[in-house]
Amino acid sequence: QERSFIMIKPDGVQRGLVGEIIARFEKRGFKLVALKMIHESPEFLEKHYADLKGKPFFPGLVKYMSAGPVVAMVWEGRDAVKTGRVMLGATKPLESAPGTIRGDYAIDVGRNICHGSDSVESAEKEIKLWFPEGIIQYTSVVESQVFEN
Ligand code: GTP
Ligand code: MG
Repeated sequence: QERSFIMIKPDGVQRGLVGEIIARFEKRGFKLVALKMIHESPEFLEKHYADLKGKPFFPGLVKYMSAGPVVAMVWEGRDAVKTGRVMLGATKPLESAPGTIRGDYAIDVGRNICHGSDSVESAEKEIKLWFPEGIIQYTSVVESQVFEN
C-alpha cells in the first residue's frame, strides 16, 4: 500500500487539533504506521522544505515550523498521498473547502495546521528524513473491511 507523510504543524498542536486530525485519518480507513512528537531545528526544517528555498515566505515558514513541537506521522492505504492532500484541503485558505482540515480550521496560509506529501516520491523522501529509524510493520485486522481486494 501507498504511504504518505502527514504532519500536524506547531499551530495544530497548540490549538489542540492532534486528536481531531488523527481521528479523521483513522476513520477514513488509513493505517497508522509511524507517529512521534518532535521539536525540530530550523536547519532540519530547511531540509524538509528545501524545494521552497528562495520563496519570500521561506524564512517565516522555517521559523513557524521550528517554533514548537510537531506530530509526525506516516499513514498507509490506497492512494494515501492524493487522498491525504484532499483531506488536508487546498494550500490557500480561500480555496480550502469546508470539510477539509484546513477548510475547517485555518484562515491564514502561514498557519495552516497540517502538512501532507505532494507526491509518492516526496513521501518517500520525507519518511526517510523524519523517520530514519524506520516505520512499524504490523498486520491490520480490519483490512478486509476497508478494501474490497
Ligand atoms: P505543505 O503540506 O506544508 O507542504 O503545504 P502545501 O504543499 O499545501 O504548500 P507548499 O508546499 O507550496 O507550501 C508549504 C507551506 O508554506 C504551506 O503549507 C504554507 O504554510 C507555506 N506557504 C505557502 N505559500 C505561502 C505564502 O504565499 N505565504 C506564506 N506566508 N506561507 C506560504
Ligand atoms: Mg508542500
